[in-house]
Amino acid sequence: MSANIVYVLNGPNLNLLGMREPEIYGTETLDDVAGMLEDRGRELGLEIDMRQSNHEGHLIDWMHEAQAEGAKAILINPGAYTHTSIALLDAAKSIKVPVIEVHLSDPETREAFRHISYVGMAAVKTVKGLGTKSYLVALEHAATL
Ligand code: DQA
Repeated sequence: MSANIVYVLNGPNLNLLGMREPEIYGTETLDDVAGMLEDRGRELGLEIDMRQSNHEGHLIDWMHEAQAEGAKAILINPGAYTHTSIALLDAAKSIKVPVIEVHLSDPETREAFRHISYVGMAAVKTVKGLGTKSYLVALEHAATL
């Protein structure tokens, strides 16, 4: 059990952050984001467990693991699964660990098919549209929980 651990889960295509549509998502990589979160986490007394998968089931398993671990919070950028996955919504509703939804872009200002967020329906907060800073703002919120 670790009440100071924050799981940071990243969904499909986020392994390509930095080279993927940089005009939308910027040029920083997921490793840059991890470094940034670890630095701030250290100051806040929080341990960061950063993961990425292109597979929906991995994200669900990790949410269950965060619950079993007694994690403080889950930050999740589900990528495109945001807009399709009722399974991720159910996972968020099935655990007691607070879930914070994170997006680099603001999906609501983009194509109509990005306007619905399933996981967002169970999130305690959504941070979006701030580029990689969205993750930092989400971490600051996690620290207050
Ligand atoms: C995203 C937004 C999603 O619509 C998209 O499918 C992504 C990234 C974001 O961080 O802005 O993969 O979650």
